[in-house]
Amino acid sequence: MSAPATAAPSFEHLLERPDLVWMGQNTTHLEPPAEVLAALEESTRRREFQLYAPALGFERLRTQIVEDLGLTGADAWITDGAVGGLHHICTGLAGSVSQVVTSDPGWPWPARFAGLEGVPVTTLELYSAEQGYRVTAQQIAEVIEPRSLIYLIDPLNPLGSRYTRAELVAITDLARQTGSLVVHDCTYRHFASDHTLAAELYPEGTFTTYSFSKWLGLAGLRLGAVVAVPELLGRLTEVPSNPLGANIQAQRAAMAGLSVKEPWLARVRATNRTNQETVRLAVQRSGLGELVVFPSHGNFVAVDIAGSGWSADALCAAMLERNVFIRPGTYQSPRFGERFVKVSTSVPEEWGERFAAAWADLSTPASQA
Ligand SMILES: Cc1ncc(COP(=O)(O)O)c(C=O)c1O
Repeated sequence: MSAPATAAPSFEHLLERPDLVWMGQNTTHLEPPAEVLAALEESTRRREFQLYAPALGFERLRTQIVEDLGLTGADAWITDGAVGGLHHICTGLAGSVSQVVTSDPGWPWPARFAGLEGVPVTTLELYSAEQGYRVTAQQIAEVIEPRSLIYLIDPLNPLGSRYTRAELVAITDLARQTGSLVVHDCTYRHFASDHTLAAELYPEGTFTTYSFSKWLGLAGLRLGAVVAVPELLGRLTEVPSNPLGANIQAQRAAMAGLSVKEPWLARVRATNRTNQETVRLAVQRSGLGELVVFPSHGNFVAVDIAGSGWSADALCAAMLERNVFIRPGTYQSPRFGERFVKVSTSVPEEWGERFAAAWADLSTPASQA
């Protein structure tokens, strides 16, 4: 293999590469809605950055998020990104849960947050076509204990699978029977088709997490939310993790984004589909790897490269040499991470083409010397 495996690249160094194709963070890189930019400019002009925002977020934004989800009767708490809410759930409720049930592949942070508080973590493996690359209710039934916290990522970062309503019914039934909580991480929901909310099935025990980083492209502004029925959400908001309020300008941008959600999403989702197809064709033509889940319900696709001779880290390093930033599975899967890479697709179509050219280049005999 020509390219040596390297440690994860520094985002700071990557920012210094103006010609870089960013397909490694699941972030959205399209020209934002004019309304979002105007809201940010107006907020700057009014020097709102000199103020603290309301502790739980602007009322209007909280209402807009609940409406967007369609979870009548629920309440929303605005957080510093979805991750800020996840951190508070996993640490703030640590004393009352017996274990965290998570997955590999998955998103590692919630289990690490709970681990900080000494909460045991049970990890279920899901890298299997037979089980649809998602956790099954059967797997959960085998490990569940009273007062578990089930962390369900849906659509699943990093593979792009999503749960059906029937699967969520089975999982939430288990949660109800055992007095367990469900954290339904819906960071990528806006890219999915036919997505079901666990909170519709088990409102009394489900926290839904929400992000503005992906569908609206506000990753650097750090804004998200946790949504739940008031009795449940109150367990977190009595002592919120950030009582001085989330980024005020981000909240203005988010309100503007939600008010133009339909046309914006139509555009982002169409671009996402086109790029997923570009990646699929590039992979198919090259003979290097195959897509794990297609179409993906997220704004990314995973490519299985087992048997190609490449390790995930070496392949990503080689793509980076060709100015295309994608991510190895090792970030999200201790067990299976060497066998897949992840490519973000809510980016300009020209970037999709540049990915395709770089991938084709990798599959030539010269690059495999
Ligand atoms: C599954 C999952 N949850 C949460 C987050 C964090 O989202 P935010 O940027 O809103 O903090 C991410 C970001 O990549 C994610 O993939």
